[in-house]
Amino acid sequence: MGNYFDKLKQAADYIRQKIHKTPYIAIVLGSGLGNLANYMSNTIEIPYEEIPNFPRTTVIGHDGRLIFGELGGRDIVAMKGRFHYYEGWDMEEVVFPIRIFKLLGVNNLLLTNAAGGVNTQFKPGDLMLIKDHIGFFAENPLRGENIDELGPRFPDMSQIYDRELVEMAAECAIRLRCDIRRGIYAYTKGPSFETPSEIRALKYFGADAVGMSTVPEAIAARHMSMNVLGISCITNMAAGVLEQTLNHEEVIEAGKKVEGKFAALVSEIVKSWP
Ligand code: HPA
Repeated sequence: MGNYFDKLKQAADYIRQKIHKTPYIAIVLGSGLGNLANYMSNTIEIPYEEIPNFPRTTVIGHDGRLIFGELGGRDIVAMKGRFHYYEGWDMEEVVFPIRIFKLLGVNNLLLTNAAGGVNTQFKPGDLMLIKDHIGFFAENPLRGENIDELGPRFPDMSQIYDRELVEMAAECAIRLRCDIRRGIYAYTKGPSFETPSEIRALKYFGADAVGMSTVPEAIAARHMSMNVLGISCITNMAAGVLEQTLNHEEVIEAGKKVEGKFAALVSEIVKSWP
């Protein structure tokens, strides 16, 4: 992408003239978690195809729009339909919306995803606050000429997921009497699910959950000094943990089952975000 920064600015300018207020928090909705939008009020929806230079979604179950509106008494923007590397997007495109959020003046980012459970204490339906991630297998979204306007060449990643936000979110879960896990999210490129040996290796590395998103977005956000919180919905046990095969329908179904609990937790988190 030539003139990538100009393209970002063009897209942000287009969005700015469509919305009334700068959102306080941006929320990226993971597979099966997209119905959070139903809990929002005073919404303005912008389909991706309307936004100059914006990538377009291809995966079934991910429709593509930005939804600006209120949740938990706060102005937020929800991103319904994210861009995955496995769809063929370059990492610059995968993180394009995150960079636009920052250009719009949003400094807080909540990343959500569906993930496989690597930690054998987990079960499908569990929600996990991401303490840190393992991104060895992700091509780095910051590769290439650095955009100095956004952040430094060699950004620190020693605390991508803000510890205070993790604690805040854990307290929200306690208030709602909702069980919550904490753990390490490992990225794999997909689109094939992992092999049992890969999952054993990731477990050895310290992973509690595995998925095909979030890591590039979190790196790009941290590069721009955004405050990042991540929540995984464990939709299945990872390959080889149980004697069964994996499929995408199961992931979507499991996401749907926790939608209510997930939306309640996210609303509470939005309300309590410092
Ligand atoms: N592996 C990778 N990504 C996933 C999984 C999984 O088991 N479940 C949901 N997303």
